[in-house]
Amino acid sequence: MTDAHHLDLLRLAQEAARRAGERLRDGRPADLAVAATKSSPIDVVTEMDIAAEKLITDLISEHRPDDGFLGEEGASSEGSSGVRWVIDPLDGTVNYLYGLPTWAVSIAAEQDGETVVGVVAAPMRGETYHAVLGGGAWATGAWEGERRLACRPSAPLDQALVSTGFNYVTEVRTHQAEIARELIPLVRDIRRGGSAAIDLCDVAAGRLDGYYERGLNAWDYAAGDLIAREAGALTGGRPSERPSRDLTVAGTPGVFEPLQRLLEDFGAWHD
Ligand code: IPD
Ligand code: CA
Ligand code: CA
Ligand code: CA
Repeated sequence: MTDAHHLDLLRLAQEAARRAGERLRDGRPADLAVAATKSSPIDVVTEMDIAAEKLITDLISEHRPDDGFLGEEGASSEGSSGVRWVIDPLDGTVNYLYGLPTWAVSIAAEQDGETVVGVVAAPMRGETYHAVLGGGAWATGAWEGERRLACRPSAPLDQALVSTGFNYVTEVRTHQAEIARELIPLVRDIRRGGSAAIDLCDVAAGRLDGYYERGLNAWDYAAGDLIAREAGALTGGRPSERPSRDLTVAGTPGVFEPLQRLLEDFGAWHD
């Protein structure tokens, strides 16, 4: 596929992420409530998650009617063009519900199963991150123009700032807490930001040395994974695998492998 095709997909993803981000930022009801719960009573969805996904899929379908979709809030279609959009319309719903600023719109485009474009808009930071396969990772901000992202120089693991997240299912999160307890004495500190997409972009931007989580879905990591890799970070899942529901790990080249090995030793992907 040509670079021009990837750039067309990028522009569309950026426009969709911008519009959805503005709608979420400017249209958040003061009395925003939980509309429904999903995998557990703490796995919540609001009317704004659903509205943002509709805005994104309507815009993309208008321009590219033959593409497929995979979206957290139910978008699911095969398409016939070879392009599939993987969408998390609001990553960080719990933060958004409480008025905390760490949330994002995450949109990736796959061409024949390979992620070729990733866009993560973080409106409350005034920043949007993007990458095209082979073209580096970039941030555009309200405060400055476009800047190229590069992950941090590698630090030893005991000086690494590592982020993680907790799945909504009680048994999984309890196990994740045990892993975090084992890890905490071995790293500089642990963060729990509340948006997997932003965690991955923070690895890309040199604001974290590493990140790991299990139980993620493709819509959580598809865009952020490409952005992290294009910024020079390494990403994966279980050893020699790509990120998956079992495990997603990202880190600077020096932190990725020891972190992945430790997680393996801790049995991070077993319940
Ligand atoms: C969640 C966030 C969170 C992570 C959870 C995800 P959502 O996504 O990315 O940081 O820990 O595993 O499900 O539900 O807010 O889109
Ligand atoms: Ca969710
Ligand atoms: Ca998510
Ligand atoms: Ca979401």
